[in-house]
Amino acid sequence: MEDELILSSLSKERGWAIPDLYLFQQFWCPSTLIKEVNNFQKQFQAKDSDIFVASFPKSGTTWLKAIAFAIVNRQCFSIHNHPLLTSNPHQLVPPVEPVYRGDVDFPTIEPRLFGTHTPFPSLPNSIMECNSKIIYICRNPFDTFVSSWIYYDKIKREPLTTLKIEEAFEMYCDGIIEFGPWWSHMLGYWKESLAKPDKVLFLKYEDLKDDANFQVKRIAEFLGFPFTQEEENNQVIESIIKLCSFEEMKNLEVNKSGIIHRFADKKYYFRKGETRDWLNYFSPSMTEKLTKIMEEKFGESGLSFMI
Ligand code: A3P
Repeated sequence: MEDELILSSLSKERGWAIPDLYLFQQFWCPSTLIKEVNNFQKQFQAKDSDIFVASFPKSGTTWLKAIAFAIVNRQCFSIHNHPLLTSNPHQLVPPVEPVYRGDVDFPTIEPRLFGTHTPFPSLPNSIMECNSKIIYICRNPFDTFVSSWIYYDKIKREPLTTLKIEEAFEMYCDGIIEFGPWWSHMLGYWKESLAKPDKVLFLKYEDLKDDANFQVKRIAEFLGFPFTQEEENNQVIESIIKLCSFEEMKNLEVNKSGIIHRFADKKYYFRKGETRDWLNYFSPSMTEKLTKIMEEKFGESGLSFMI
């Protein structure tokens, strides 16, 4: 009853993958998640050692979860007998919100690694009040759009019909998409990474593609698990990059079939894994419109993308 009252007071729009999105705490929250986000905010007790892999969906979350898990647990597992070969990264680094639905268990080993799509201002206070760390992965809004449009169509729920690319694009430009507006999501973490660089590390998918070695070292240092010279000499960084690469992960049996967290088909997390695929989908007018929106929204924030 209380839940229904809350919902009836919120603006509502059609989602991309689920029928209803509600404008909750200034983001478009899937109806199924409002209660979980509420409980996450009220009940979650962060520990100093916790690590959060945060992202706007379709920005490379799966990849960063794999990399973070491999970095912090590298003393525990050999690369040839690694949990990432037999478990999907979303199982090893579970999303934190569904814990409050009872679908997912908290990790039992420390440091605990969690995923979250919750926008920065809606994170529980306890995360900000302790020494836990947040790594945020951001992807250029052009590729994020294409990846989202294709992915959400595959996992959409009844009675949703396929959104034409033009329809999806208009919604995207209005910020209406699961966890949108995307610009607020990105800016929330971006600004916090500038204000508290020891707390939030802001990463870009394109940079990770461009120089994985440098970025993996940067992530390890930020998380407090820097590589020793001996590890560097022994090619530990290169072996982590290979283990987590798109080609390796996509071809693992564990990632080819099966459902995860009750709704997501594992194989859909791995599509092309490339940058600039948007060039295959955008018309000149779409390019112009999105470029303008990015200029308007990101303005003087310092956040920019190579597209
Ligand atoms: P594409 O749809 O452009 O291929 P998320 O993990 O946040 O859902 O993001 C999914 C996107 O990341 C998809 O992009 C997917 O193919 C890509 N991806 C998944 N695993 C990857 C990896 N190991 N390396 C690079 N990209 C990866």
